[in-house]
Amino acid sequence: MSDREFVKYFSSMIAALVALAVVLFVIAQVVGGKSKTTTAQADAKSVAERIKPVGEVTVAGNAVMDALIPVAQAADKGKSVYDQACQACHAAGVAGAPKLGDKAAWKDRIAQGNDKLYEHSLKGFQGKKGVMPPKGGFANLSDADVKAAVDYMVSKAK
Ligand code: HEC
Repeated sequence: MSDREFVKYFSSMIAALVALAVVLFVIAQVVGGKSKTTTAQADAKSVAERIKPVGEVTVAGNAVMDALIPVAQAADKGKSVYDQACQACHAAGVAGAPKLGDKAAWKDRIAQGNDKLYEHSLKGFQGKKGVMPPKGGFANLSDADVKAAVDYMVSKAK
């Protein structure tokens, strides 16, 4: 084989190999590319499915928080009003006041219903045990504050 013949033969071999490589590459693109898209779509779908409940839980969580925050704030309000204006008598049961958390002392009072308890706290109340002064003697408290304190005391006695 002459050098010339060899180069000719060799370059046609190279050309054939390059052509084969190109064909394989194209086939690989068609087959692999297609399956890649499918996987990507499946991934996206399953990711979306997996994220969805989390998103719903988050939304539900926010709704729960939105509902709970005012309740928590009201409870806080009630406690702070109680600490400021009511505990002087109601913590230790001074002057016949029903003690905070004393279920027996509160049972019959709670049974009267909240409206009665609010009324007695706001306007004052002479009972068998003693005198509950209007708003505990803190006329500056709003009705809502006093009611919150009543709610707090009732919640501790249940
Ligand atoms: C000076 C003492 C005193 C203070 C301060 C006081 N209380 Fe009272 N409270 C009493 C006494 C005494 C009674 C019980 C009266 C009875 O039944 O004879 C009572 C009873 C109550 C009752 C039960 C009423 C019923 O119908 O049985 C509620 C509710 C109440 N107090 C809420 C409050 C709240 C809220 C505050 C604070 C804003 C407060 N009290 C501050 C003395 C006090």
